[in-house]
Amino acid sequence: MAIGGVGAGGGAGGVEGQQGRSVLVTGGAGFIGTHTVLRLLEKGYAVTAVDNFHNSVPEALDRVRHIVGPALSARLQFIFGDLTIKDDLEKVFAAKRYDAVIHFAGLKAVAESVAHPEMYNRNNIVGTVNLYDVMKKHGCNKLVFSAPAPATSRPCSATRTPRAVLSCRRVVVSGHSVELG
Ligand SMILES: NC(=O)c1ccc[n+]([C@@H]2O[C@H](COP(=O)([O-])OP(=O)(O)OC[C@H]3O[C@@H](n4cnc5c(N)ncnc54)[C@H](O)[C@@H]3O)[C@@H](O)[C@H]2O)c1
Repeated sequence: MAIGGVGAGGGAGGVEGQQGRSVLVTGGAGFIGTHTVLRLLEKGYAVTAVDNFHNSVPEALDRVRHIVGPALSARLQFIFGDLTIKDDLEKVFAAKRYDAVIHFAGLKAVAESVAHPEMYNRNNIVGTVNLYDVMKKHGCNKLVFSAPAPATSRPCSATRTPRAVLSCRRVVVSGHSVELG
């Protein structure tokens, strides 16, 4: 695992508020992740993105930095890490306290998930359980989970699936907001 970029802090001229709040975005270099990181920075959050570049490239976050400019870029930290490796997540959470986590680090190609179900189960389920465990350990209990369809396509209700895996207070699964425990 490597840590790059500048840590949270720096100027926040023109941001919309939320200074001081910190959000971790898993899969932050991916398609939805980069758009989310960009919007969070514009909203004034300090953002940490973690990604293993399985389906993305470092240049994606460089583009985000280019769009938001140097002041807001100073509030973006990138950490190279794999959610299936718990030590990587421990290091992410040891680095700072997060007010919330937005979880996009999943594999989602349907055909590939049929060809390699074990790889998909391991990545999407183990990664999510590891994330939950480390969040719980560090007292972070706000999670937005963009669930990968290949991992949740069995017929089950949106209210039951996350309850089986997660027990934080609120989770949003593919547009369904679910209150937990
Ligand atoms: N794109 C959509 O329309 C859509 C709709 C609903 C849900 N989703 C879900 O949202 C999530 C993100 O979607 P996307 O379109 O941005 O996908 P994406 O492939 O562009 O982004 C996912 C990112 O997660 C990273 N990643 C994957 N496994 C990882 C791991 N173990 N550790 C660290 N990083 C890892 C990848 O490298 C990639 O950068 C997926 O789970 C997807 O199923 C996507």
